[in-house]
Amino acid sequence: MFEVDKIREEFPILGCKVYGKPLVYLDSGATAQKPLQVIEAVDRLHREQNANIHRGVHFLSEEATELYEAARARIAAWIGAAAKEEIVFTSGATASLNTVAYAWGDKFVSAGDNIVVSELEHHSNIVPWQLLAQRKGADIRVLPFDETGRLRTELLGELVDGRTRVVAVTQASNTLGTRPDLRPVVAAAHAVGAVVVVDGCQGAVHGGIDVQALDCDFYAFSGHKLYGPTGIGVLYGKRALLDAMPPFMGGGDMVDRVTFERTTFAPVPFRFEAGTANFVGAIGLGEAVGFMQRFDPAEIEAHESALLRHAEARLREVEGLRIYGRTPDKCAILSFNVEGVHPYDLGMILDKLGIAVRTGQHCAEPVMTHFGTTGMCRASFAMYNTLAEADALAEGVQRAVRMLR
Ligand code: ALA
Repeated sequence: MFEVDKIREEFPILGCKVYGKPLVYLDSGATAQKPLQVIEAVDRLHREQNANIHRGVHFLSEEATELYEAARARIAAWIGAAAKEEIVFTSGATASLNTVAYAWGDKFVSAGDNIVVSELEHHSNIVPWQLLAQRKGADIRVLPFDETGRLRTELLGELVDGRTRVVAVTQASNTLGTRPDLRPVVAAAHAVGAVVVVDGCQGAVHGGIDVQALDCDFYAFSGHKLYGPTGIGVLYGKRALLDAMPPFMGGGDMVDRVTFERTTFAPVPFRFEAGTANFVGAIGLGEAVGFMQRFDPAEIEAHESALLRHAEARLREVEGLRIYGRTPDKCAILSFNVEGVHPYDLGMILDKLGIAVRTGQHCAEPVMTHFGTTGMCRASFAMYNTLAEADALAEGVQRAVRMLR
């Protein structure tokens, strides 16, 4: 049974007060709070198990190495990867996407090629492709979304052609909550031999992923949005693609032999994990996945979707409030503006009421441009939020608007 009160007990920070008021945390899209299972695993590592991985023959090093590799295997199974070697630990989704853009892109993209990027993307799934296009003389083509926030996949036929090398798309928009139908994207890309790179930052936490069922080529996500630690992320890549990629960063642990004449490299995934890995983060992320596996994904989805529907209904009572993103199966991300009210002012008053929302461009300026605005307020829900918190948001917005008008 999905019991939100019991779940909340596992997140110590949710019991905090800010400005003397109970914290209403509605900014999980930016970073999620951490359950005890993660906090305690990270604490235990530092107290009892800390040693560098892959480097020592001593007890602690071997134990930490085993935990690190077990986390890799658990994450591989959770996202449906064919093998644990397809999981590269990075510092976050941004590093994952840049790794693909540099290591795969520099080898396989040439002048005159094109890269198709959806208009829904976070900057981290736009800018690395622009930099790649500039390095190589390739073009960026934009796959637009419509006024509801639906990705216009019917235009794929016009944009994807024999010179397309990459199609970059989100699994769930961090601003509009849209979950695009990725099947036609994958089909169109694969029909011309292009790779599909999916930003799974919001999608992984809202519904999960089966990378083999989707048949995407690369998939990136961050630990800290998934109830895990900060500074750790994952790059999933199909084994053959990772094998074909040269290293992106050089350093310790990613080599086979090093001489001044020539260096040979370790197999995947280690080739892409130069330097001391964030093994504490990786093990913590493994625990976060373990935490999520304790729940039925359908129950999490039903709970979050009820929160979203309730919050939307209550917010619609506010005069002049506009909600962005109206696709029927959107995830629990709710961006809005109120006519005549600046989102920063609204966010600051909500903050004083103990309600944390994100304000601004949400690192997705093209989405703002599409709607002709410079910023939005965003409430992003997680499995630990309650209907009472959705009410608090709506009542807080009503109050703030009365003050600001
Ligand atoms: N990318 C994060 C967000 O959407 C920070 O808020």
